[in-house]
Amino acid sequence: MTMTNDEIREAFFRFFEERGHRRLESASLVPVDDPTLLFTNAGMVPFKPYFMGRATPPARRLTTAQRCFRTGDIEVVGDFSHHTFFEMLGNFSVGDYFKKEVIPWSWEFCTGVLGIPAGRLWITIFATDEEAHDVWRDVVGIPEDRILRYTEEEGNFWASGDVGPCGPCSELHYDYGEEFGCGPDCEPKHDCGRFLEIWNLVFMMNMRHEDGSLTDLPLKNIDTGAGLERVSMAVQGVRSSYETTSLRALLDHAAALGDRHYGDDEDTDRALRAIVDHSRAVTFLIADGVLPSNEGRGYVLRRVLRRAVYFGRSLHMPAGFMETMAGHVIDEFRAPHPYLDGQRRLVQTTVDREESRFRETLEVGLSRLDDMLAGIKDQADAVPGAEVYRLYETYGVPKELTAEVASHHNLTVDEDGFERALEEARGRSRMASAGRFDLRQDELAEAFAHLTGHGDRFSGYDRTASESHVTGLIREHALIERIEEGHDVLVILDDTPFYPEGGGQMGDSGTISADTGRIDVHDTRRDASGVIYHVGKVTAGYLSVNDQVQARVDPARRQDAARNHTGTHLLHASLRRVFGEHVHQQGSLVAPDRLRFDYNHMEAPHPDQLAEVRAMVNDRVRADITVTTREATLEQARAEGAMAIFGEKYGDRVRIVEIDGRGGGRPFSAELCGGTHVHETGEIGGLFIISEGSIGSGLRRIEALTGAGAERWVSAQLRTLESASRRLGVNPAEIEAKISALQEDLAAERRRVEALQREAGKQQAGGLADEAEVVAGVQLVTARVQAASVDSLREMGDQLRDQLGASVVVLGAVIGDRPNFVVMTREVDGRVHAGKLVGEMAKVAGARGGGGRPDVAQGGGTDPAKLTDALDVGRRLAKEQLSGQG
Ligand code: SER
Repeated sequence: MTMTNDEIREAFFRFFEERGHRRLESASLVPVDDPTLLFTNAGMVPFKPYFMGRATPPARRLTTAQRCFRTGDIEVVGDFSHHTFFEMLGNFSVGDYFKKEVIPWSWEFCTGVLGIPAGRLWITIFATDEEAHDVWRDVVGIPEDRILRYTEEEGNFWASGDVGPCGPCSELHYDYGEEFGCGPDCEPKHDCGRFLEIWNLVFMMNMRHEDGSLTDLPLKNIDTGAGLERVSMAVQGVRSSYETTSLRALLDHAAALGDRHYGDDEDTDRALRAIVDHSRAVTFLIADGVLPSNEGRGYVLRRVLRRAVYFGRSLHMPAGFMETMAGHVIDEFRAPHPYLDGQRRLVQTTVDREESRFRETLEVGLSRLDDMLAGIKDQADAVPGAEVYRLYETYGVPKELTAEVASHHNLTVDEDGFERALEEARGRSRMASAGRFDLRQDELAEAFAHLTGHGDRFSGYDRTASESHVTGLIREHALIERIEEGHDVLVILDDTPFYPEGGGQMGDSGTISADTGRIDVHDTRRDASGVIYHVGKVTAGYLSVNDQVQARVDPARRQDAARNHTGTHLLHASLRRVFGEHVHQQGSLVAPDRLRFDYNHMEAPHPDQLAEVRAMVNDRVRADITVTTREATLEQARAEGAMAIFGEKYGDRVRIVEIDGRGGGRPFSAELCGGTHVHETGEIGGLFIISEGSIGSGLRRIEALTGAGAERWVSAQLRTLESASRRLGVNPAEIEAKISALQEDLAAERRRVEALQREAGKQQAGGLADEAEVVAGVQLVTARVQAASVDSLREMGDQLRDQLGASVVVLGAVIGDRPNFVVMTREVDGRVHAGKLVGEMAKVAGARGGGGRPDVAQGGGTDPAKLTDALDVGRRLAKEQLSGQG
């Protein structure tokens, strides 16, 4: 029995654990706070800070199976071996072992554990790496002609990016045999398909800088990477990574959805492989919290998903196939990746929504593209950028997909033109929103420029009052020396305890007083230049520049804001624990009297989940945990996994606010934050969620209260409950039972009323039958009656008709302020058409018309005062028609 992919992964871990490595979970596909990288694209990504000596690793020897995502060659995905998503097996040494250990281990694992025949493996090394050469030849015993020396261009110097850790490397290549080669001189660097690179050993000892220069890293490290499916290809003896154990099943599932078999037709197979890769990639991406959008990661996800839908559509797969595929992916990969199970709903609803949104416009977009391609085929080499943009903007066809379809017609797309069209559109939307900018900010810039460096010190984390000096006064955009009573003013101090609005937290208010006068401050902000300004009004006397003043923040308001701010952090951390790690803060407002928290989540939470979140927060409140703050470098904070808020800009030094869990491990909450917080969580007093709802696709908002505000809210709820209980005459605990009993009584009463109405209707009908007049052998009844609903009006009509035999029944009633009629006929030989008659009557009663069948029709009007007129018209017309005059 050959080993399965799962067995190979596990064997790899065990092999390196036996050699002193610590097995770590794969990190997320979204790199933790690494703005240089959109996605985790190699096993070493989470370890960069260790290699650069900027953080201490949990152990010097590590091993992982890292999930990776790359889109560099997405347009060839669908061939035998390319993937956007894959798992990379790796072992790492942070300044511990080096070449002479790792080289023999790699050999032992491949030949000894996996059983790959020694004769099938070829080795490449960096051209000048004598040390690696000697270990391969002398320690492992590889013949000289199987050790090839390659340059950086030929692939044997590996770098994590233009800038960052790098080093010479040595690769192991699997040889499928000469029959697959390109000739007698065939070697691993040829891409004829004879060789398969299965493992890259990077001797990570250098650092590449912006200017291209190389320096030594503080330590000599090892970073190896072996694509799991590639290793499996060699072990399982298959030619395609898609035919290894875990992907083969997915191919069959995909084929079944398109009602085909894998292996019958190459074009179909290509589409199936792309669908398999892409559905696996989007499943893992969404499970890691990436959601479709028009930029950044979300756009990449959208592109991959749409490419899959495009292929699915070409194979006539039913709508919803992506959701089914995502389900299969989770079933296939849940054993090694158990967290996928918890994200199943999120993944499936997201892909399904995206597929149907795309399908809605894809048909139109693609046929437009086809027309266009046919039109320009012989006249141009490229699809104009403006057209590519229109397809993207109007029909959601990604530029890359347009390019791919165009390439089948030997056309390219005009990339520059597309970028120009995109820029123009962005410019338009910028101009449209410019009106919303506070123009005063621009006008203030000049004043602030003079104050830079004289008013950017905030010293209010631990105090709410200080002795300070006025360094600037601004009135109507201009710097002034002195401000008199009654005037609005912006005040700048050399040092202030007032917190300036930022990070969602509102600015402080309070007073600034000197011997000569006083300013009431109602808001505090920070200008783009960094200057903190207090927005206020002189309420007594006057103040001048250079005055010594007492700056006093309103302490109660500050404390309320702090409760809400720390409450926000607890809420964020709890939401992630209850809903999943994909949840991130998307926006927040921390005011003294309330907090608002926006987050990403695809579905409405169950009330039980919200209750769990609230309970988790309040549990931490009661535990009265100390809130600590400390400074760190941005790198350090990221390496520790502190939460950064997407889209916030951080300086080199950041402040981390931590709320510890219950001893040991990672803190319950750690966020980069400049706001003011309580000292102990107990000060929050309790948090209540007062509302939760959707504010956009995949975006939700929670509003909550803490402290006295929460108490007031709870008391108000209790008062409502008490008043309800008083009015119902029961204990609060019995309210629900009482309401159910009342609802039942009400339903019984309704039934009784309906029965009475029917009875009354019957009696009315009985009386009407007596008043029928006979016209040309047909009984005609026209009457205004009392009826509670159109249904009872019809019932009455039915009854009359049954009683009268050959008849025309025209009834009208005012129901809920509007005139309503029914007309019914029986055995009238087509002389009277009920529908037409109702139409005429409705016109009289203010409606534009009406109609219905020849034997039964109903209609209404707008003016109840015209009911009698309408009935008169009905009667006259019926008579004329019956007697053949109509
Ligand atoms: N970082 C190297 C690679 O990605 C080896 O892990 O190939």
